[in-house]
Amino acid sequence: IPVKIFATPTEGAINVANQIATLIKEKQSIGEKCVLGLATGSTPIKLYAELVRMHKEDNLSFKNVVTFNLDEYYPIEKNSIHSYWSFMHKHLFNHVDIEPSNIHIPDGEWPKEGIRKYCEEFEAEIEKAGGIDLQILGIGNNGHIGFNEPGSSILSKTRLLVLESSTRIANSRDFANLSKVPKLAISMGLSTILKAKKIILLAWGNKAPIIAKSVEGSITDQVPASFLQQHEDCTFVIDEMAANDLT
Ligand code: F6R
Repeated sequence: IPVKIFATPTEGAINVANQIATLIKEKQSIGEKCVLGLATGSTPIKLYAELVRMHKEDNLSFKNVVTFNLDEYYPIEKNSIHSYWSFMHKHLFNHVDIEPSNIHIPDGEWPKEGIRKYCEEFEAEIEKAGGIDLQILGIGNNGHIGFNEPGSSILSKTRLLVLESSTRIANSRDFANLSKVPKLAISMGLSTILKAKKIILLAWGNKAPIIAKSVEGSITDQVPASFLQQHEDCTFVIDEMAANDLT
């Protein structure tokens, strides 16, 4: 996997924002939609801030952009401050000219009985949009991408899944306490992610051990991000600290 190392997260985020802007404009110039797969969490916040800046100051338009988010807690109300729906609107969608109907975030309010069907439809929507042109990923310290925890199948699709306790502990920083962190989530599967035409994984700070395992370790379902080694157009954009354990 090609790895681009930047001195700071800000520089890495600006590099990726530039790549996204270039893709959006290329697609605009040929009258096509640009389909982006998006992540939440602390990692992409600076990336979204830069895209918002480009919209406000450099006239970057999101009119032709269609988005699919990787995941959402379950169950959760859209309006909860903890939902990924709220996160995406707060950090990106409320500040750019994207058409609300072009935004797709797994629905944490969907009734449990209909979840399987709902997840199939989410996959079908991606197909209908022509597939994901560029998927942005973060990575968990256990190697998860989306919420595909260790043990997830490379064939997995969008589904309701159980979060590992390490993931709930990591994410509890956003909640009053651990018991408030949802135990379930809807997430794109590994096969969904690997179908994206291009993938960029971002990582900053204390993720050096899992970055080294993902890039240089053997391909195993115990490190879901290691499956990215099999993708033909995947790049890791990381900072110096996250690069510390690479040989
Ligand atoms: C979020 C997602 C997760 C995060 C990962 C890292 O949509 O898919 O895989 O990218 O848990 O989270 P942060 O960025 O908070 O370290």
